[in-house]
Amino acid sequence: MRRKIIAGNWKMNMTPSQAVALVNELKPLVANEEVDVVFCVPAIDIIPAMEAAKGSNINIGAENMHFEESGAYTGEISASMLTDVGVKYVVIGHSERREYFGETDETVNKKVLKALEHNITPIICCGETLTQREQGITIDFVRQQIKVAFLNVTAEQAKNTVIAYEPIWAIGTGKVATTEQAEEVCAAIRECIREIYDTDTAEAIRIQYGGSVSAASAPELFAQPNIDGGLVGGASLKPDFGKIVNYNK
Ligand code: 13P
Repeated sequence: MRRKIIAGNWKMNMTPSQAVALVNELKPLVANEEVDVVFCVPAIDIIPAMEAAKGSNINIGAENMHFEESGAYTGEISASMLTDVGVKYVVIGHSERREYFGETDETVNKKVLKALEHNITPIICCGETLTQREQGITIDFVRQQIKVAFLNVTAEQAKNTVIAYEPIWAIGTGKVATTEQAEEVCAAIRECIREIYDTDTAEAIRIQYGGSVSAASAPELFAQPNIDGGLVGGASLKPDFGKIVNYNK
């Protein structure tokens, strides 16, 4: 049985003082021993959010990092900077980073390799646009994203990654994918991992669904055989996130 992992992606929200207040507010609400809970927060919020989360089950993660070790990359954050303060998770290749900041499958692959080299678990995002879904090429497209993201990643390393399937048309739109749509693609992703590696790896890897997840939609989504949790945007900034984390109660 794979342990569920439910992560919030705060995006560009919350100043450091707001972050501390939100962690303190959510701390008692997201207690659930059966689930891994991660708050992926803006870089400047990482340290104060970690301080506030001390003694709780909340892991603080990052929303992005650079693929180079260090150097002349103004404005970027490195894997060593994250591990130095104890970060264990980082979102890689979110569709917003792909759309607004030029990230490609190739840069995603480089970042995945760098995160794994530093023992940070990458939460690797994939997902199709509405046009791609309407053209019937969702699974082909997502398989391509996955195959490139995992180039040169060993099976042992792959087991320690998390994949987030986030259909772009469902992000921030209130338009959640149907349970069947989400399960179909998550199952296809697992099959793709099985083809690249083996059954062991495919069964170990955790695959999240993301896109307008709410307290109402979480229980059914997370009950699917191939959905091992969620990556939650808007609802992770509200007390509702406690209900999502406790979807099984
Ligand atoms: P929403 O939950 O706001 O749709 O965002 C999903 C997302 O992009 C999480 O990474």
